[in-house]
Amino acid sequence: MFAVKKVSVLILTAVLILTATSLALGQGVLKVATEAGFMPFEYVDAETGALLGFDMDLIREIGNVLGLEVQIDNIAWDGLIPALLNGNYDCLIAGITITPERQEAVDFSDPYFESVLTVVAKTGSGISNLDDLAGKIVAVQINTTGDFAASDLFDAGDVKGVSRFDTVADAMQAVIIGAADAVVIDLPVAEAYLEANPTGALKHSGPVSDNEFYGIAVNKNNKELLGQINSALATLKAQGIYDAIYQKWFGGM
Ligand code: ARG
Repeated sequence: MFAVKKVSVLILTAVLILTATSLALGQGVLKVATEAGFMPFEYVDAETGALLGFDMDLIREIGNVLGLEVQIDNIAWDGLIPALLNGNYDCLIAGITITPERQEAVDFSDPYFESVLTVVAKTGSGISNLDDLAGKIVAVQINTTGDFAASDLFDAGDVKGVSRFDTVADAMQAVIIGAADAVVIDLPVAEAYLEANPTGALKHSGPVSDNEFYGIAVNKNNKELLGQINSALATLKAQGIYDAIYQKWFGGM
């Protein structure tokens, strides 16, 4: 009787310790912000309201590797970096291009995606590269690399005007209704947009810029998380999980 009691006390103790350990591990939350108007990297599923896309899969797998529960908020693009700096989030993933200017404000993870800009214009507009934008109105999502490229052209006197919108959808809409002539935007997003809106009204021009690289943004005072994200990225690459996510969203590309 005594022996049985002793064993069950031991088992109970072991169960309690295991439970406490898994609770402690499960307690960590990774608070993430994105702007989900950037298919195929982040978008809202029309039926379920779920946040889907390449970036969403990637950050959830990073959370998996780190044993952190991933909570993602969908907020305004232009508010992402301020919200990170305010301490409202641990990191940002939103197809954010690593630029020297942004690196003054935040740290970026190792690059996780190579991208490039394109020009979207009406089919038959004759606009098929940046030079064709001379004298045109260019619509962009505000404070994106597309905005920076269009604004550089404007400063050089090479475009007539730059119309800045909060969302990609609004910039595209400006071209559709004829308020602007073209959108400068990340090529994979232009491709996904044209696939999702197959009216034939718009087309893209293929790559028109140097390549750019997306990174996950972390506060400068959070080197520990930066290191964890980078090692999780390396683990996902080594385990083939990164490739599986890439295949899921970009097929054979
Ligand atoms: N890659 C571009 C940039 O960093 C555009 C990113 C826009 N992302 C978004 N979720 N709307 O400027």
